[in-house]
Amino acid sequence: MNLKKLLGGTVLVLAAIQLVPYGRDHLNPPVTGEPAWDSPRTQELFSRACKDCHSNNTVWPWYSNVAPASWLAALDVSVGRKKFNVSEWGRAEKNEGDEAAGEVREGKMPPWFYLPAHPEAKLNDQEKKELADGLAATFGEKKKSEEKK
Ligand code: HEC
Repeated sequence: MNLKKLLGGTVLVLAAIQLVPYGRDHLNPPVTGEPAWDSPRTQELFSRACKDCHSNNTVWPWYSNVAPASWLAALDVSVGRKKFNVSEWGRAEKNEGDEAAGEVREGKMPPWFYLPAHPEAKLNDQEKKELADGLAATFGEKKKSEEKK
């Protein structure tokens, strides 16, 4: 196996996976309901760090057109919106706003792999606290003990 063959094979595989239809439509469905944000600041921080995966106002970057990044982006957005979507506030389906403050306090959201390509989503300690407190004020905060039930 020489290097040329290996490179050629890699290029072929990368070209071939672009033909997989999943993750290309980049839909931003209509906004059907919005929460009553406690302050514009909370909304601003949310917009910086969370909205791409938890609203219908996703900004789809150029690499979300290129497989396999496109698959990961499409999956994150669809799962993220399903769990917690501020553009479909008041929907019949579950909308886990009351876990949002805790996710930020524990450093679980935004996901670490989102940050290198989205430096604006990297919040300092002060901003994290502001966002978590604002999310708690907007959505309420489920206590750890209640989560287990
Ligand atoms: C890159 C996409 C992405 C970003 C950005 C993001 N999330 Fe998430 N979020 C997800 C995905 C995927 C899930 C579901 C899987 C999981 O829990 O890890 C999720 C789950 C959640 C949940 C439901 C609880 C749970 O763990 O299942 C909450 C609440 C949440 N995110 C809040 C936030 C907040 C607040 C921010 C911004 C500080 C944020 N997320 C940023 C993708 C994202």
